[in-house]
Amino acid sequence: MSWTMSLSVLGFLLVLVAVVLGQDGINQSTCVAEAAAALAKGIVTRDWGVTYSTQSICALKGSTVNLSCSYKYPSSYTVTSTFWFTKCKWPTYISLLNDSDYTGRVNYSSNQINTNTLTITDLRVNDSAIYWFRFLTNLNEGKYYGNPGVTLSVTGLQVNMSATTVTEGGRVTMNCITTCNLTGSTIWFKNKHLINSNTSLYLNPVSSMDAGNYSCVVKGFNDLCSPEQTLTVLFGPKNTSVSVSSSGEIVEGSSVTLTCNSDANPPVYKYTWYKKNVTSPIASGQNYSITNITSEDSGEYYCEAENKYGHLNSSLVFVNVLWTQSSYLTLIIVVISVVLVVLILCICGFICFR
Ligand SMILES: *[C@@H]1O[C@H](CO)[C@@H](O)[C@H](O)[C@H]1NC(C)=O
Ligand SMILES: *[C@@H]1O[C@H](CO)[C@@H](O)[C@H](O)[C@H]1NC(C)=O
Ligand SMILES: *[C@@H]1O[C@H](CO)[C@@H](O)[C@H](O)[C@H]1NC(C)=O
Ligand SMILES: *[C@@H]1O[C@H](CO)[C@@H](O)[C@H](O)[C@H]1NC(C)=O
Ligand SMILES: *[C@@H]1O[C@H](CO)[C@@H](O)[C@H](O)[C@H]1NC(C)=O
Ligand SMILES: *[C@@H]1O[C@H](CO)[C@@H](O)[C@H](O)[C@H]1NC(C)=O
Ligand SMILES: *[C@@H]1O[C@H](CO)[C@@H](O)[C@H](O)[C@H]1NC(C)=O
Ligand SMILES: *[C@@H]1O[C@H](CO)[C@@H](O)[C@H](O)[C@H]1NC(C)=O
Ligand SMILES: *[C@@H]1O[C@H](CO)[C@@H](O)[C@H](O)[C@H]1NC(C)=O
Ligand SMILES: *[C@@H]1O[C@H](CO)[C@@H](O)[C@H](O)[C@H]1NC(C)=O
Ligand SMILES: *[C@@H]1O[C@H](CO)[C@@H](O)[C@H](O)[C@H]1NC(C)=O
Ligand SMILES: *[C@@H]1O[C@H](CO)[C@@H](O)[C@H](O)[C@H]1NC(C)=O
Repeated sequence: MSWTMSLSVLGFLLVLVAVVLGQDGINQSTCVAEAAAALAKGIVTRDWGVTYSTQSICALKGSTVNLSCSYKYPSSYTVTSTFWFTKCKWPTYISLLNDSDYTGRVNYSSNQINTNTLTITDLRVNDSAIYWFRFLTNLNEGKYYGNPGVTLSVTGLQVNMSATTVTEGGRVTMNCITTCNLTGSTIWFKNKHLINSNTSLYLNPVSSMDAGNYSCVVKGFNDLCSPEQTLTVLFGPKNTSVSVSSSGEIVEGSSVTLTCNSDANPPVYKYTWYKKNVTSPIASGQNYSITNITSEDSGEYYCEAENKYGHLNSSLVFVNVLWTQSSYLTLIIVVISVVLVVLILCICGFICFR
């Protein structure tokens, strides 16, 4: 089999590969076909070539990546233009510098003769593509680009939870995942605060305190952080307490509101009020108001908070209704009156007896 024939076969295969790879309206097949034709014409020989330093790279969203290559050509030619591309529309290969999808994010550099490095900053998931290096020479037939190019996969880190909603006492496993093959310990954050763990995160049993937003970082991999993932913990009422609206003394005739507070998820849907030594509930609702309070309302109160996962009573709150001055006055008058009446009766009795 001749050199040309085998090149034709290779070219045909390249077209097939390119058709398979063609994506999102980017028609690479035509340009690959041109390369195949060039190969078939025998223009391209062992004197021409592009060698990429790596054939595939996985990089994290937001990071910077370098793709490098070296290239060769017969010494009778002079290179006039070098660039990288991912898209082409026959007969144009679009340099990444001219590609609006990459504006301000690419740079070409060359630190050695016949080498080139493409730097893409602030990587996006959509930058995932095959990147080819192309060079043109002073002679029209002396154009070349190197297959198979570099396959770049851009991926984000992600927190994968075995469950995003869990009832207290259950368990949750969190992994920091990407489609890249990342190696390195994982650093975890809860509500942006570092948690000491370098592997998967196991919460078992889950407590209500574990609820929050989790994110992760793979150490040594550009230290880029995943988006936050929220863990919701469902639990019955906790820390049920009663607060009293008036801070000072409660006097007869005034109004008082007792408020029941409790942490719960989902929130408390039922509040019940009790008075000590009164067997049946006295009220329901988060607030219990007593207007025109009397001394009979004095006593110890508590509330019960309830949701789907349980119920909890608050501790007792003592409501002490003080008498007002007029009440004291009335009492004193009543006492004096009684004493006087008793005295008068006694005197009358004594006189009558006599
Ligand atoms: C790509 O271009 C080739 C040649 O012009 C054409 O036959 C093919 O249909 C195009 N493919 C797509 C997906 O546009
Ligand atoms: C990319 O290459 C430049 C120099 O060409 C270097 O300064 C930079 O650190 C490299 N970046 C990465 C992510 O390798
Ligand atoms: C990039 O654009 C410039 C001017 O807009 C043009 O001269 C150059 O040929 C283009 N390069 C490529 C490779 O498309
Ligand atoms: C491209 O790289 C060169 C040298 O490495 C630097 O001077 C230039 O500022 C860079 N351009 C951009 C847009 O980063
Ligand atoms: C990524 O590409 C898809 C499909 O081509 C497009 O719908 C989407 O808007 C792009 N996203 C960004 C951020 O450019
Ligand atoms: C995340 O974890 C769940 C449960 O462990 C699993 O079913 C799912 O496939 C994982 N998702 C990814 C993208 O790995
Ligand atoms: C990821 O790396 C492991 C070991 O380093 C290797 O066995 C595995 O094949 C790699 N997976 C991929 C998809 O590259
Ligand atoms: C992970 O942490 C444990 C102790 O917290 C330590 O023994 C282990 O060496 C660490 N592993 C890595 C890969 O850092
Ligand atoms: C978690 O994130 C959500 C939305 O992203 C936000 O509303 C909530 O306040 C965050 N929680 C904490 C504890 O930071
Ligand atoms: C209950 O109160 C304690 C002590 O004040 C506090 O540490 C804890 O976070 C509270 N529980 C909930 C679920 O808010
Ligand atoms: C409430 O009942 C207890 C015994 O059940 C009793 O000792 C206490 O005196 C009662 N208090 C009032 C104010 O009736
Ligand atoms: C409060 O109660 C007393 C005694 O029951 C009554 O005389 C008075 O009118 C009440 N005041 C109001 C504002 O309801």
